[in-house]
Amino acid sequence: MVRNLPDRAQRRTSPRRRLRRRGRDATPTITLSMHLSRRSLLRASTAAALLSATGRQSAAAGLVGRAKDELPTPALVVDLDQLEGNITRLASHAKSAGIALRPHAKTHKCAAIARLQMAAGALGVCVATLREAEAMAEGGVGGLLLTSEMVGGVKIRRLVELTRRRPDTMSVVDDPGHAAELSAAARAAGLTLNVLIDIDPGSRRTGIAPGEKAADLARRITALPGLRLRGIHCYSGSSAHVTGFEQRRAHSEKAMAPAIATFLELRREGLPMEILSGGSTGTYNIDPAFGAMTELQAGSYVFMDVDYRRIGGKSGAVYEDFAPSLAVIATVISRPERNRATIDAGLKAFATDRKFGPEPKDLAGATFSWGGDEHGILDLAKASREPRLGDRLEFIVPHCDPTVNLHDHIHALRGDRVEAVWPVARGYG
Ligand SMILES: Cc1ncc(COP(=O)(O)O)c(C=O)c1O
Repeated sequence: MVRNLPDRAQRRTSPRRRLRRRGRDATPTITLSMHLSRRSLLRASTAAALLSATGRQSAAAGLVGRAKDELPTPALVVDLDQLEGNITRLASHAKSAGIALRPHAKTHKCAAIARLQMAAGALGVCVATLREAEAMAEGGVGGLLLTSEMVGGVKIRRLVELTRRRPDTMSVVDDPGHAAELSAAARAAGLTLNVLIDIDPGSRRTGIAPGEKAADLARRITALPGLRLRGIHCYSGSSAHVTGFEQRRAHSEKAMAPAIATFLELRREGLPMEILSGGSTGTYNIDPAFGAMTELQAGSYVFMDVDYRRIGGKSGAVYEDFAPSLAVIATVISRPERNRATIDAGLKAFATDRKFGPEPKDLAGATFSWGGDEHGILDLAKASREPRLGDRLEFIVPHCDPTVNLHDHIHALRGDRVEAVWPVARGYG
């Protein structure tokens, strides 16, 4: 029908304007969409995504200066005094232990926090994904070390572009074929890619075996144009959460010894071994004593979580070297029984990869169980008090890194005020 054809003016308007018009007039979305070409539909949906992202950003900015009780729940929050305390504590420990810091930004995915770590003396930050790396670079943070192998044309192209902007970027390699691909990409782009050899500490996640295999890869890399070998990366994730300080120390020592021996041997051979990077929040006060590691890549220490608090410290059953600065605020939305309170935070607000759930900060004796996507259930039979409908409760998260990845923003609190709202570089895109 003629009246269904788009008129010329409508064809000429931009997708953004069309979307605005769609918001104003009563024309149902479906009528307009039917007459858009596939390309303009794609453009329109991109514009819609941008508008909604911008909308979320400005809504978030509107929260700055408000009381924390005004945050819509569930809200991911960080206590700035505790966060800054954690950053200072690790920085001064590293300084006195004579080791550099390149903290892992996979924990917070947030350039503002990385800048605080840099201001406290970090050399740069480690990142796990290109999304994190690009967000750090955009936020003015350099000294990036990608601790996962950037394999495949798509990732290598992004790594090259990142290195163009930040020439000191480093990434890891555990395979000669991958090294050759990186070398070819670097030569084609006319730049140098900095690499570390990724050694497997026995976790069997990534990494080449220490000893002769790693040495052979190191020698090959030094012969490849476009690559600059900087040293060794060896992260023993399985040491990080070993319960008990002595057991953790013994585990880390055993895991790191072969990589350390390889590092020292390659140094003796005259290969460029400036960096031996590894370590975690669980081993920050263990690994420097091994004598050979040049930098620590602890991540969770900025926030802490239930998982880490359970491993035990040097002198107690709770690991309290760093304060639990991160929390999710949730609201009690149902209170049908005396011993039960249901909150508005469930599987989509907290990471679910651990056997345990979040821990309420100010409600001793209450136990949490999952109630669904948007629901958490508190058993109050042994609780120290009885929360009321509408009460807002704060929870230490079970595992900080994947919890942060569920949220668009971290709300930074100074006392009870929102001082800043920081975007999280979540996802992969
Ligand atoms: C490669 C690598 N380095 C460092 C870390 C930081 O460890 P943590 O958060 O336990 O301090 C991680 C965490 O998963 C990691 O994967």
